[in-house]
Amino acid sequence: MSCSLNLKNFSYKIGENKEIRNINLNLSHKEKIAIVGANGCGKTTLLDIIAGVKSRSGGELELFHQKIDSLADYKSVRDFIGYLFQDSDNQFLCPVVIDDVAFGLLNEGIEKEKAYLKAKMMLEDFNISNLQDKIVYNLSGGEKKLVALAGVLVNEPKLMLLDEPTNGLDEDMQLKLVKILQQIDKSIIIVSHHREFIDKIVDKIYKITDDGLVLIS
Ligand SMILES: Nc1ncnc2c1ncn2[C@@H]1O[C@H](COP(=O)(O)OP(=O)(O)OP(=O)(O)O)[C@@H](O)[C@H]1O
Ligand SMILES: [Mg+2]
Repeated sequence: MSCSLNLKNFSYKIGENKEIRNINLNLSHKEKIAIVGANGCGKTTLLDIIAGVKSRSGGELELFHQKIDSLADYKSVRDFIGYLFQDSDNQFLCPVVIDDVAFGLLNEGIEKEKAYLKAKMMLEDFNISNLQDKIVYNLSGGEKKLVALAGVLVNEPKLMLLDEPTNGLDEDMQLKLVKILQQIDKSIIIVSHHREFIDKIVDKIYKITDDGLVLIS
């Protein structure tokens, strides 16, 4: 089976002194998994490293069959990865909602009219067309999360890294997100404390512990 992500004897530092070791993970093509663990155990840091925002301290990392040895190696795979940050304020690149959602498409070289049409359709899918001309920083927490999610999904990444995607979402939006993520035929890693939510979407659940990454479900 084609594999999207492979971590072998992988280790990384969290904070100044602690190192997480023994991370072994094989994410198959179109597989959906969740990573759970206590506050501060290193979930977001792990996603940051997979996304190429931070560096690991040891072990091997392969993305889309390519060995990643330094941040420079991300050049050929970066466009395949969609990362929803835990803190939505870190996500936005443009002040106006519709510009932000269209940004990735325009960056890929998609024609302006097509990019904006696709971005508008994405906002419609999330029932947030009313937000399209608003300033992102003035949105509520849940609205920011929805706009950030729309901006990730619109690019149709092959690997999605979603850090606490339900944070701030009301019950209806959580159910809608479950349906959207169930239907998406891509590789997904969800980090979440929301067990009921992830149980509806993922095939496997891993936990970060002092002994490394452990399959718990
Ligand atoms: N830039 C940094 N400088 C110093 N310490 C950091 C930095 N980034 C993260 N840490 C520390 O690394 C540890 C892991 O942080 P991380 O954000 O990965 O945790 P998490 O598992 O995502 O937690 P949560 O469930 O609260 O989101 C924390 O103790 C945090 O304080
Ligand atoms: Mg986190």
